Amino acid sequence: MQLQVINSPFDEEQVKLLNQILPRLTEGQKIWLNGYLSASPTGSFPIEEISGDEVQAITNSAITATKEVTVLFGSQTGNSQSIAKKFAKNLQADNFEVTLVSMSDFKLNSLKKLQHLLIVVSTQGEGDPPDNAIQLHEFLASKRAPKLDNLQFSILSLGDSSYEKFCQTGKEFDERLAALGATRIAPRVDCDLDFDDAADNWLTDVQGKLNELITGSSSASVKLHQDTEIVTEEFIYSRKNPFQAQVLENLNLNGRGSNKETQHLELSLENADLQFEPGDSLGIYPKNNEALVAALIAELGWDEEEQIQMKDSPAQSLKDALISNFEITVLSKPLLTKLASFTSSSQLHDLLQVENTQQLREYLYGRDLLDVAQDFKPWTISASEFISTLRKIPARLYSIASSQKANPDEVHLTIGTVRYEVNGREREGVFSGACADQVEVGDTLPVYVHHNPNFKLPQNSETPIIMIGAGTGVAPYRAFLEEREELGAGGKSWLFFGDQHFVTDFLYQTEWQRWLKVGVLTRMDVAFSRDTEQKVYVQHRLKERAEEIYKWIENGAVIYICGDEKHMATDVHATLLKIIEEQGRKTSEEAVAYIQNLQQQKRYQRDVY
Ligand SMILES: Cc1cc2nc3c(=O)[nH]c(=O)nc-3n(C[C@H](O)[C@H](O)[C@H](O)COP(=O)(O)OP(=O)(O)OC[C@H]3O[C@@H](n4cnc5c(N)ncnc54)[C@H](O)[C@@H]3O)c2cc1C
Ligand SMILES: Cc1cc2nc3c(=O)[nH]c(=O)nc-3n(C[C@H](O)[C@H](O)[C@H](O)COP(=O)(O)O)c2cc1C
Repeated sequence: MQLQVINSPFDEEQVKLLNQILPRLTEGQKIWLNGYLSASPTGSFPIEEISGDEVQAITNSAITATKEVTVLFGSQTGNSQSIAKKFAKNLQADNFEVTLVSMSDFKLNSLKKLQHLLIVVSTQGEGDPPDNAIQLHEFLASKRAPKLDNLQFSILSLGDSSYEKFCQTGKEFDERLAALGATRIAPRVDCDLDFDDAADNWLTDVQGKLNELITGSSSASVKLHQDTEIVTEEFIYSRKNPFQAQVLENLNLNGRGSNKETQHLELSLENADLQFEPGDSLGIYPKNNEALVAALIAELGWDEEEQIQMKDSPAQSLKDALISNFEITVLSKPLLTKLASFTSSSQLHDLLQVENTQQLREYLYGRDLLDVAQDFKPWTISASEFISTLRKIPARLYSIASSQKANPDEVHLTIGTVRYEVNGREREGVFSGACADQVEVGDTLPVYVHHNPNFKLPQNSETPIIMIGAGTGVAPYRAFLEEREELGAGGKSWLFFGDQHFVTDFLYQTEWQRWLKVGVLTRMDVAFSRDTEQKVYVQHRLKERAEEIYKWIENGAVIYICGDEKHMATDVHATLLKIIEEQGRKTSEEAVAYIQNLQQQKRYQRDVY
């Protein structure tokens, strides 16, 4: 956008100033400015109101619109949040007055005043809501939830179909709102990991129906803007257009004799023009193991050179398609259900019966499509029919372990190798196994930055931080401290780190010790679970330091938890609740409310997997 002196009411000096600022404004800022000037043409300019917080209400007040809609998002790793933002922009472009807000910032008592509500929400844990959706989710399930007869809504639900409780949170919001009397504008859409097309189709449908509801005619111009993530210019790389990053370093951080393998991977981002902040993750598209693909093709008696035609891309050999494009190592009930129509094996049909849910659960865990091909013969399935049942291979996310300020052209990751044995066959994680066994310096890997606004250092670098992580969960804290060192941040920091053995598993030991020495890290407590008779984990160290932890929290510290979700994060959460209860002399309900309040203030953040 360039303003010219001719035909404008501004003098040359003003045009120069405007041309400096206009190209640097984000869409949200332009819209805000537009609304601000029309509402208060002579007012002073409160810059601080538009800077900072990710979650800002975007109001298109410049347009005399009566089409109001609220877009709420519940998001852990940022997907629902970025979709919701994109939708808000689209609706604004269609003259809707849009309020975009995180569920944790949403005023619960304003729910009954809303008329049109769109929700984008993911599912976490084992069918649980993301952290910032917990309160609204609980509120809707409670007796306090109001009657919502005037509300019209629709839900876009994000999830992963390999989880038993696929899109559970979206389903629960949908059912609950309907039970409270609200009406669906359009049916809920449940999206798998490859969510772009389904999400766009949902919005197109909802936008058309909203227009019909409000103005009596569906807007002829329901057209989606380009995904903000997708290529807007040739040199911008993204999830849909990954950058080929060269491997600079690939080292095993664990010492000889360790039970673990943890790779420190350094990649070059030179010329990628990719921006990231501590707390973001890197997505890597993996390839399936060639030997596994060959064994699967042989088992099903196909020709590996058979040409496979895929939507929107040139034909490929069956072997290449299975190596690069499709998931063959994760099983789910929906996948086995599709495959069941291509075998007469009664065993597979039996396994899929509702009464055999537990058996199915056990079968799915750790097995892959080669097991299925071997276990449920005879098959009458062609290669292309088989391919049509499969999901695209999803990218693996890794918490970034370096600061871009400290290493401008690089990104570092900390990758735990997954190895296990099931059914007498040794297996490894698709990417982590390849990373440990095959990836070499000089190779390239297709990567993109996955921004996570929900795991971020405090804006004020004087704010104290408490970082809790076990194993690879320590990765983002390396990025945090590199960043704080670069910034010369004065805020105190406390690291709780746990792993199995001091001698072999103290990841990045010398770096923490140097940071302790120079004061970038104020305190460190470690828990090596297998060095003592009684196992000691990070939560035990937290308990030992309860009094000081509580003081830090009371003094404004931000708490971070990263790493294993099932055990570590759950136990740490329970320990923190206990600490707050005991040290703050609170009831268990008050402790829960205290943590919820921290969450709302973005002072309790989790990056767990
Ligand atoms: C936001 C986010 C950040 C992450 N950050 C990191 C990080 O910093 N470092 C890191 O290492 N990982 C991280 N992960 C996890 C990472 O994305 C991958 O899930 C992990 O590396 C495994 O991928 P893979 O391709 O090696 O294994 P996959 O091929 O995906 O295999 C993993 C699967 O193997 C099965 N499995 C594993 N162990 C067993 C067993 N003993 N018995 C039976 N089955 C088993 C399970 O079904 C498991 O889901 C993160 C994930 C998320 C969502
Ligand atoms: C630790 C973890 C647990 C998950 N649990 C579920 C689940 O139970 N059901 C489901 O459908 N998806 C599950 N997912 C998948 C997420 O919902 C999916 O990745 C989604 O795109 C995340 O969106 P968000 O970034 O907005 O949180 C899980 C993902 C992670 C990392």
